[in-house]
Amino acid sequence: MITPFDKIKSNLGEILPKDLLDRIPRKWEKIGDVLILKLSRELKNYEKDIARVYANVLSCKTVLNDIGGIRGVERIPVVEYIYGSKDTETIHIENGIRFMLDPMRIMFSSGNIDERIRISTISNPKEVVVDLFAGIGYFTIPIAVYSKPKKIYAYEINPIAYNYLCKNIVLNHVTDIVKPILGDNREKTIEDIADRVIMGYFGDTYKFISTAIKCLRNHKGFIHYHDVFPEEDIPDKPLYYLTEQAEIFNRKVEMIRYRKVKSYAPGINHYVFDVKIW
Ligand SMILES: C[S@@+](CC[C@H](N)C(=O)[O-])C[C@H]1O[C@@H](n2cnc3c(N)ncnc32)[C@H](O)[C@@H]1O
Repeated sequence: MITPFDKIKSNLGEILPKDLLDRIPRKWEKIGDVLILKLSRELKNYEKDIARVYANVLSCKTVLNDIGGIRGVERIPVVEYIYGSKDTETIHIENGIRFMLDPMRIMFSSGNIDERIRISTISNPKEVVVDLFAGIGYFTIPIAVYSKPKKIYAYEINPIAYNYLCKNIVLNHVTDIVKPILGDNREKTIEDIADRVIMGYFGDTYKFISTAIKCLRNHKGFIHYHDVFPEEDIPDKPLYYLTEQAEIFNRKVEMIRYRKVKSYAPGINHYVFDVKIW
C-alpha cells in the first residue's frame, strides 16, 4: 500500500537532493485543514516546495513550521507561516466535536485524543463540573456534548483561547450547559459548587490542587489531576501532593485509577490521576 508519506517522498524526489530527502518529516500535526510540520534547518531553502507537496498530498490549505514548541502558562505555540492561505483559522473535527481554533495562536495536542474521548462520558446529568484549564474547550465541550451535566464552569486565562471557547460552545450547541469564565481560576474561584473538577494542565498543576478542592461541594468529589512525572514517581508523588492539600481541608484521597496520557521525554510521561476526595 502506498502511504501519504510515500507519495510525499516520491513527489519531493524530483526537487530535493537525496541527503535532504532523507530528512523530511515522517510525522505531522493536521489540525482541521492546517498542517504543522517540524522542518530541520537544512531544509530551509526548500521549505516552500516541501510545504506545497505536503499540503497537496494531505489536502491542507495552510502549512506552518513548528520552531519552538508550546510556550508559557498560556500554552502559546511558537510556529511560523510557510505556505498557503494566510487565514489560519480552522475547524478540527474529532469524536463528533467541532473545535474552532487558529493553530498560529492556539495549541491543539493530538496526543491527548484518547483522554479527550475517555473523559467525554465520565460525568452525568446529575453533576456540576468545573474545568479549571478549559483552553478552547478540549475537555469541556466533549463532556458537555456526551455527558450532559447540569453545568460546567470553564475557566480560561488566555483571552484568545477564551474567545474560541465561547465560539465552540455555540458551534456544539451547549450554551445551556457551559458557563465560560475569563481569568485566573485562583482569583475567580466559585467555591463549594462542583461534583467533579478537571485539571487539564501540566507543569506545576500541584499548585492548583487547593483551588480544585475549594470548588468541590463540601470539599468532596472527583478530581482528574494531570501532570508530568518521571515513571519512578508514580503513583507516590502525585498522591503525596493530593493528600497534603486534602488534609488541610480534613479530607482523604482515594486513587481510583491513573493512566499515561502520552510520553513527554525519555522516562517522563504526562499522566492523569482520577481521584476521589472524601
Ligand atoms: C492548553 S490547555 C491544556 C491542553 C488540554 N488538556 C488538551 O487536551 O489539549 C491548558 C489551558 O489552561 C490555561 N490556563 C493556565 N493557567 C490558568 C489559570 N491559572 N486559570 C485559568 N486558565 C489557565 C491556559 O491558558 C491553557 O489554555
